[in-house]
Amino acid sequence: MRKKIVAGNWKMNKSYAEAIDLINNIINANPNPTVQLIVFPPAIYATELVKLTTSTPIKVGVQNSSQYDAGAYTGEIAASMLKSVGVQYALVGHSERRHYFNEQNSDLALKVNQLLKNEITPIYCCGEILAEREKNNHFNVVKNQISEGLFQLTENEILKCIIAYEPVWAIGTGVTASAAQAQEMHLFIRNSIVQKYGNKIADQISILYGGSCNAKNAKELFSNQDVDGGLIGGASLNATDFIAIANSF
Ligand code: 13P
Repeated sequence: MRKKIVAGNWKMNKSYAEAIDLINNIINANPNPTVQLIVFPPAIYATELVKLTTSTPIKVGVQNSSQYDAGAYTGEIAASMLKSVGVQYALVGHSERRHYFNEQNSDLALKVNQLLKNEITPIYCCGEILAEREKNNHFNVVKNQISEGLFQLTENEILKCIIAYEPVWAIGTGVTASAAQAQEMHLFIRNSIVQKYGNKIADQISILYGGSCNAKNAKELFSNQDVDGGLIGGASLNATDFIAIANSF
């Protein structure tokens, strides 16, 4: 059985006080323990959120991390530093980082390597823009993203990763991929892992859907064979919505 996961990417939202409020509301809602809940606050709040969630089933991640070990890299946060404050997950290659900060698959491969070296679970993000889908190039784009960012890993290493498929045209737009479109791409991703690592490994890797996933459409999306949960943006900023999504399996 693959892990069911609902992850909340808070992006660049919430004051410190609001972030504390949100995490407390999520904790107090006693979320479904069969689903792994992970929150991705702005990094500056991560230390405090790790403390607040210590004796709860909720885990804390960050939205970005450095591809470098340590040293003269102004503004960056190393995976070893994240580990030292108890962060257990990190997003890698979210489309907003790819587009606004020009992150390339080759940088992302290095970030994944750093995270695994520090026992932090990467959630590797992939997904096509609308023009790529319209040209029927979406499978190639996603295949390249995962091959160049993840397929440098050994069998043991890839087993420690999670993948999130987030079609860029569905992020923050209110337009969701249909359940069939999500399942089709998730199956394609799983089959790509089968080709590289075999069935046994591909079967164990959780693949999350992201892009305008909310309390209304989560059930239909999560009912697909290869959709193991969601990476939620906007709807994760409200505890009631986030918990409703976690209860949608
Ligand atoms: P929305 O849920 O706001 O569309 O964002 C999805 C996302 O980018 C999660 O990482």
